[in-house]
Amino acid sequence: MEYKSYALITGATNGIGRAISDLLIEQGQSVIGIARNPDPTFKGQLFLADLSDISSRNQIFKEITTSFPIDRLVNNIGFNQLQGLLEVTAQNYQKIIDLNLTVALELTQAVLPSMLALGQGRIVNIASRSMLGKKNSSVYAAAKAGLVGFTKSWAIELAPSSITVNCVAPGSTETEMFNRNNPIGSPGRNSIMDSIPMNRLGDPREIASAVIYFLSKSASYTTGQTIFVCGGASISQQQF
Ligand SMILES: NC(=O)c1ccc[n+]([C@@H]2O[C@H](COP(=O)([O-])OP(=O)(O)OC[C@H]3O[C@@H](n4cnc5c(N)ncnc54)[C@H](OP(=O)(O)O)[C@@H]3O)[C@@H](O)[C@H]2O)c1
Repeated sequence: MEYKSYALITGATNGIGRAISDLLIEQGQSVIGIARNPDPTFKGQLFLADLSDISSRNQIFKEITTSFPIDRLVNNIGFNQLQGLLEVTAQNYQKIIDLNLTVALELTQAVLPSMLALGQGRIVNIASRSMLGKKNSSVYAAAKAGLVGFTKSWAIELAPSSITVNCVAPGSTETEMFNRNNPIGSPGRNSIMDSIPMNRLGDPREIASAVIYFLSKSASYTTGQTIFVCGGASISQQQF
């Protein structure tokens, strides 16, 4: 039976989340996004919440999942703050783990009953090439590696229900988050550029196109997988 279903994307108004939303909407699909700030240019339905706040996120997850049948979820939101091992504080640690991992777990739990009722689903987690190791990003790397653990374990649990779970690990992609952590002209940004075999940053739409594949009906036999979309950085020997 045909039914109207929705794709839900966290961090949908900018960068990679925005590119995923735009591509889905261009395909005629219905998109629900979450972000903190209103964005009149966003063409899907936008819900506003600060996902770092537990009660705000619980409330918005409930509101969305009781109102819409969701069969595709992209756990896109993430957060990093560059800090050396000795500079990691309990507060930063908790914020990075929360925004990259805990929100993904809680939202997946909230959306799952809808997918189970519909008898199908697609979940895509957005990790990072940084999970292979990155200077001054150990907590972020650990959180993103954790998302791969979630991906594989959820994929096994949900396979009998025809719900697939996959992961996209972007390399350096030109977005607000990237520019904030790696200002133009900074030594960090220059060394990142030097270490990318393709010698350029990714465009958010290049990341989004891999997500679109995992979300598609035709990706029905692909689950538990992680694809790096990183201009070759994940196979390069250079350190950054
Ligand atoms: N860019 C890269 O180089 C790169 C590389 C590897 C992995 N990634 C991963 O890709 C994902 C997307 O990153 P991006 O670079 O596309 O980010 P971005 O350009 O900074 O966009 C972030 C999006 O999330 C929303 N957002 C931020 N904080 C939020 C919060 N606390 N609550 C609700 N919404 C929030 C923002 O809207 P508001 O500001 O209005 O809330 C915006 O829509 C992240 O998981 C990141 O770790 C990025």
